[in-house]
Amino acid sequence: MKETLEVLARGERLQPQDFQSLIEEENPQFWAETFAKARERAQAVFGRSIYTRGLIEFTNFCRQNCLYCGIRAGNPQADRYRLTQQEILECCQEGYGLGFRTFVLQGGEDPYFSDERIVQIVRAIKAAYPDCAVTLSIGEKPMESYRLFREAGADRYLLRHETADSEHFAKLHPPGQRLESRMACLESLKELGYQVGTGFMVGSPGQQSRHLAQDLAFIQRFRPQMVGIGPFIPHKDTPFAGEKAGTLQMTLRLIALLRLMLPDALIPATTALGTIAEDGREQGILAGANVVMPNLSPMRVRKKYALYDNKICTGEESAQCRQCLAARMGSIGYELTVDRGDYHPWKGKEHV
Ligand code: SAM
Ligand code: FES
Repeated sequence: MKETLEVLARGERLQPQDFQSLIEEENPQFWAETFAKARERAQAVFGRSIYTRGLIEFTNFCRQNCLYCGIRAGNPQADRYRLTQQEILECCQEGYGLGFRTFVLQGGEDPYFSDERIVQIVRAIKAAYPDCAVTLSIGEKPMESYRLFREAGADRYLLRHETADSEHFAKLHPPGQRLESRMACLESLKELGYQVGTGFMVGSPGQQSRHLAQDLAFIQRFRPQMVGIGPFIPHKDTPFAGEKAGTLQMTLRLIALLRLMLPDALIPATTALGTIAEDGREQGILAGANVVMPNLSPMRVRKKYALYDNKICTGEESAQCRQCLAARMGSIGYELTVDRGDYHPWKGKEHV
C-alpha cells in the first residue's frame, strides 16, 4: 500500500481500483503515517497558516430536492428566510473587521435571487471591499449566468459533484437532477476562469468504497483548485432521516489522500466534520486540510440554515466563532491568517 501512496504523492495517475485498495486499508499505523505525510505536504505549501472564509448563508429557499438536504424544496418544516443586500453587506462589514478577506455567498437555488440580483450583490461587495475575494455557492446555473457573475467580479465557485457515480447520484437526487449537468457546470466554471471547488459527502446513503474511489479518480482528472468534503449527517425531516452519518475516520482518510494528490489545493476542515466530532476540524487540519469556513450569517437565521441535524456554531456570534477557531488552531500549533487565500500553483519548492 505504501508504494501506491508514493505513486499518488509523485503526482502520477492511479486507477480507481488502486484508490479503492487505499481507502479500504484498515491498518491504523498506515493511516497514522499517511496523515503525517499529508500534514507535512500541507505545511510545505502553506506553512502553519490556515486560511479563513467567511460563510454567509443568504437564503435557504431552494428549488432542488436533494434527498439528503434539510433545506430541500420538499421539506415543509424548513423555516425559510432570505437576507437583503443590505444585510449581506453588513455581514461583510463585520467579517472584514474580524479579518476575513474571502466572503462565501452560499444558498439554496432560490429563483428570487435572479442573475441581476446576484450581479448587483457581487458588484456591491467588490466595490466596498476591493481587496476581498467573493466565492459563490448557489448551485447549478446556465453558463451565461456564471459568465455574468464572473464579469461582476466573482472570483471562485463551489459546486460539489456529490458522487462521481451516476447510479449513486440517482439514489441521492430526484430524477430531474443529473450528474452530467453538474459535471457540465463544473466544466463551464473552469472555462470561465473561476477558481473552482468541487467535493462530496463521505458516508452518504448507499456509498461504497468503489464510489469514493471514483470520486478521487474524477478529482485527479478534473484538478479543482478547492475540494470540500465532509461527512454526510442525517436531517430529521428528509427521506434520509434514519440513515447513519459518515465517520470521522473515513473523512480524515479522504482528506489525507486528497492532499497527497493535490498538494496546493485549498481543502477546508468543514463544519460538518466539527459537528460529528468535537475536535473534528483540528483533526482535519492534522490530516492535511488548510482552510476553515466559520459562519458570518446573522444570528437570527443561523438555526434556519439547517442542512443536517445538530449543526455547530448556530448559537455563537461571528466574533465568537473566529476567536474559537483561532484558539482551536493555536492548540495544534497553527494560526489563522488575514489573507484572501487564493490558489497558487505549487512547483515543489519548500515553503519559506
Ligand atoms: N445550493 C448550493 C449547492 O447545492 O451547491 C449550495 C448549498 S448546498 C446545501 C451545500 C452542500 O451541503 C452540498 O453540496 C452538500 O454536499 C452539503 N450537504 C447538504 N446536506 C447535507 C447533509 N445532510 N450532510 C452533510 N452535508 C450536506
Ligand atoms: Fe463557531 Fe467554535 S467555530 S463556536
